[in-house]
Amino acid sequence: MKKRSSLKIMLDLMILAKVHIHDLLIATLSGVISFFSSTGIAVLAALLVVRLGGFINVPFYKITISMAILAFVRGLTRYLEQYMNHLVAFRVLCTLRDKVFAAVRRLAPAKIEGSNKGALISMITSDIELIEVFYAHTISPISIAIICGITYVVLISLYSPAVALVTSISYLIMGIGLPILFSKWSKKIGRALRREIGSLNNIFLDLLRGITEIMQFSYRKRAIRVVEKTNKSLVDHQAVLIEQLALLLALEDVIVILTTGAVILTGILTGLSPSVLLPLAFGVFFSFPAIANVASLGNGLSQSLSCGERVLNLLEEKPVADEVTDGIDLNLEDSSNPLIVIKDLSFSYGDQPVLEDFNLEVAQGEILGIQGESGCGKSTLLKLIMYFWPLKIGEIHISGHPVHKITTQSLWRNISYMTQSTEFFEGTIRDNLLIAKPDSTEEELREALDKAAILDFVDNLEHGLDTTLTELGDNFSAGERQRFGLARCFLKDTKILLLDEPTSNLDTLNENIILDALKRNSDGKTVLLVSHRDSCFKICDRVIRMQDKQLPDKARQRLRKIEVQDKQSSDRARQ
Ligand SMILES: Nc1ncnc2c1ncn2[C@@H]1O[C@H](COP(=O)(O)OP(=O)(O)OP(=O)(O)O)[C@@H](O)[C@H]1O
Ligand SMILES: [Mg+2]
Repeated sequence: MKKRSSLKIMLDLMILAKVHIHDLLIATLSGVISFFSSTGIAVLAALLVVRLGGFINVPFYKITISMAILAFVRGLTRYLEQYMNHLVAFRVLCTLRDKVFAAVRRLAPAKIEGSNKGALISMITSDIELIEVFYAHTISPISIAIICGITYVVLISLYSPAVALVTSISYLIMGIGLPILFSKWSKKIGRALRREIGSLNNIFLDLLRGITEIMQFSYRKRAIRVVEKTNKSLVDHQAVLIEQLALLLALEDVIVILTTGAVILTGILTGLSPSVLLPLAFGVFFSFPAIANVASLGNGLSQSLSCGERVLNLLEEKPVADEVTDGIDLNLEDSSNPLIVIKDLSFSYGDQPVLEDFNLEVAQGEILGIQGESGCGKSTLLKLIMYFWPLKIGEIHISGHPVHKITTQSLWRNISYMTQSTEFFEGTIRDNLLIAKPDSTEEELREALDKAAILDFVDNLEHGLDTTLTELGDNFSAGERQRFGLARCFLKDTKILLLDEPTSNLDTLNENIILDALKRNSDGKTVLLVSHRDSCFKICDRVIRMQDKQLPDKARQRLRKIEVQDKQSSDRARQ
């Protein structure tokens, strides 16, 4: 993970909020007036006491009316400050959530496949929430502390430079010393805490996904132990943070009391009259909240900044395969033959080789069956054709164009790709079909369902196509899922179909219906059909068998060399 200094994180986060600068200025101004008012009330209270003692001659009503006005101003400006700060914070968080989702979209699918989803979920939810601390409770408090601190010291120095010196030293200790000390102290723990929340989410996701395995395979005790272990370490770190916070609050109080004592002593030693010293001492005592707000940042801010760092890193992360936006717009109306050409392709996930010197030509209109042992790289081959992963050695051409030169959107527009698992989104069956072709007519939807042998199932549902997935309890069988996935492919109706085990969960009857439909509708279409089932291949014009390759040393060395070059250039780019 890229490490940044706290200052750099703050600057980067500020840049994200620059459009809200006006609101932040209003918040800061309101905060300054609000703190001036509260300190003013304290000074007036002291003047009241001085007046009672007969040291000054100001009418009572003037002091009390001034106090009432300041109290009103304090309430109003405090409200405005809080309102504006939080408004800015929540608006920026809203933008951040959109940006994080866009980043995940840009980085997918390589990022989703390769990383732990729990960490991503905690980033989109709790990390972004915690950045609120920075926007709502950091930017304006720091500005307010600087403005209030300087103004107070200047005002005090008009009455007593010695008292002003004592006060400014305390302000510096509280406003700069404490936050730096505590943010350094808690930074590492803040980072660890965020990491642990991510891994706890990950563990829960894993356990929820595998709940039946947990019940079935006496994994229960171990699962509980795993949760307990991470939970304990999380609580331990939280306890350290709370201890630090308690110590910080205690130190703040000590500084306020010592400073007030020192002010009184300095005033007496320098011969200040009680009518000046008492309001000064009261004013100094009540001026600290504006500065203490910054001191308290050290602890909460460390977590907020470590969340900010993770989110900023994600926003800046480069995708494994860049989306091609400036390239050839793929048009398969008059495509060249063979339509798909794969030349000397070698591919590995990190160190793990999957394909080696793989060559293949698929003619236009051909239905090609692909078989091979589990793990030999069949799904990987389809993902490479979809340009989900960049090619390192070898080439893939579609209609004569290298895949990395075709705009990603046009590539995906021209291919229907059915993965090994079909996913559904919140909504109705209709919504889930329309994602394949948003302007489909009712007839087209029914036709696609019919071809996928799932129309009867839908017609038997009380609300038919408008049945919501929650109504169905999200409980489609694996075979039904596959048939909906196929219906989407039929609906999208593209020239190229990549089907990854489309009938693996179907009985022979439904498999036959689907294969027939595929064959009947495959005019002018090029189909790559991956399957373990021989019965699937009866509609194929040709079947190839992929070998489970262990890369020979030479190819492995070539891949490793490219990996090292990649790493060096990305390190250089980062620097
Ligand atoms: N995202 C990934 N990161 C690292 N390794 C991966 C990734 N995806 C697949 N692999 C590995 O690459 C190899 C090929 O995987 P692939 O999914 O292409 O196999 P397959 O032939 O489709 O297998 P199956 O018939 O079981 O679906 C496997 O050893 C797998 O563990
Ligand atoms: Mg596969």
